[in-house]
Amino acid sequence: MDTIIGADELSTRQVISDPYSAYRQLRAQSPFNYVDFPAGKIPGIETPLRAWALMKYGDVYGALRDHETFSSAGNPLVGKAFPPLVLILDDPPRHTRFRRLVNKAFTLRRIEALTPWISGVANELLDEAGRGETDIVRHYTIPLPIKVIARLMGIPGEDYETFKRWSDAFLSLVTMDNTERMRNIQEALEYFGKMAVARRAHGAEDLITALVEAEIEGEKLEEWEILGFCLLLLIAGNETTTNLIGNILNVLAARPELWQMLRENRGLVETVIEETLRFESPVQRLSRTATRDVEVSGVKIPKGDLVTVFFGSANRDPNEFPNPDEFRLDRDLRNHVAFGMGIHYCLGAPLARAEAKITLNALLDRFSAIKLGGAGGTRQALSSVVFGFDLLPLIFQR
Ligand code: HEM
Repeated sequence: MDTIIGADELSTRQVISDPYSAYRQLRAQSPFNYVDFPAGKIPGIETPLRAWALMKYGDVYGALRDHETFSSAGNPLVGKAFPPLVLILDDPPRHTRFRRLVNKAFTLRRIEALTPWISGVANELLDEAGRGETDIVRHYTIPLPIKVIARLMGIPGEDYETFKRWSDAFLSLVTMDNTERMRNIQEALEYFGKMAVARRAHGAEDLITALVEAEIEGEKLEEWEILGFCLLLLIAGNETTTNLIGNILNVLAARPELWQMLRENRGLVETVIEETLRFESPVQRLSRTATRDVEVSGVKIPKGDLVTVFFGSANRDPNEFPNPDEFRLDRDLRNHVAFGMGIHYCLGAPLARAEAKITLNALLDRFSAIKLGGAGGTRQALSSVVFGFDLLPLIFQR
């Protein structure tokens, strides 16, 4: 039996750590208006921020495809809770220009070229992690994506604990003291600022050099655009991939027969990754602003109101995915929205998929079985945006 959950509880720790019961109860009533962000947590936000929850697959898909009506700009927390982020909080034409520029750094070909290096890092981490009972989050799923993004950007990967602190601070909008949060974000911006200065003086084969040298229609990028993009990559590229890999391993630890199937047929690895993206989406929700009065599923949403697209709920909508709460390998997964849809479709999707695939293949090569250790995993409850584990103890069998 699901505990009854009200619309205004959608940002509580309980729902953040287990949102699926809330979606089951509330999806049919959506769109509805709810408290997205409480008052008094952030200076300047003195009344609760309300938003319209879009939870049905069709509504989420429609909003993601209609970026003119559902703008990514104008988030009221920008400047109060976090600095401006390019790309993800931009609309065309600026979004189009910036996206064209950074697309080049994330093509499938470039990611494929990086695969042997990622594989090396993954195996090195597993040499240490795969002994006895291991918290796979601390020893593997956190460091791997941070080392990868650090390499792409051209910054030393050893600083990954500091990176994790910065990215946690950014995401802990409701749960961390705001002064502490802003101090961390400032520290990150100063760090990237120094990197940009160093790359201006001496270029290297990395993304920060590409950004400081780039020109869009004859103009160089401004300092805040470069730093805003570095910060975006730190947040968008790490926690999400950490959570995807943790969610996959949790699914597999609970299904020993699936592990055996995968060992016998590696062709299923990609399907397991896609079904986990649908089943336990690492990004659960993000905001938009209505640029005009608009009707969604018969509900009028006024111009200027905040709208939340619930990717996690859309991916469990029974009208799109029959028996959505079952993990299955025989679905049509082409239209899941775990990486978004439309112009903001995840820039790092090929990289995230590659990291998950390398991880699974490395583990399948090494171990005949995996199972949950200790008291099981602990879900994160800091950020309503992401879904994953703080702690996931696993036991590996050779
Ligand atoms: C499993 C891992 C990941 C998931 C589930 C994920 C999910 C998403 C989603 C849902 C969006 C759409 C945002 C929107 O519609 O407003 C997005 C955008 C984005 N993601 Fe990812 N992401 C992942 C990994 C990564 C990685 C590894 C990187 C970079 C290295 C990355 C960089 C970005 C960027 C830059 C955007 C903004 C794109 C734009 O606005 O044009 N993501 N991601």
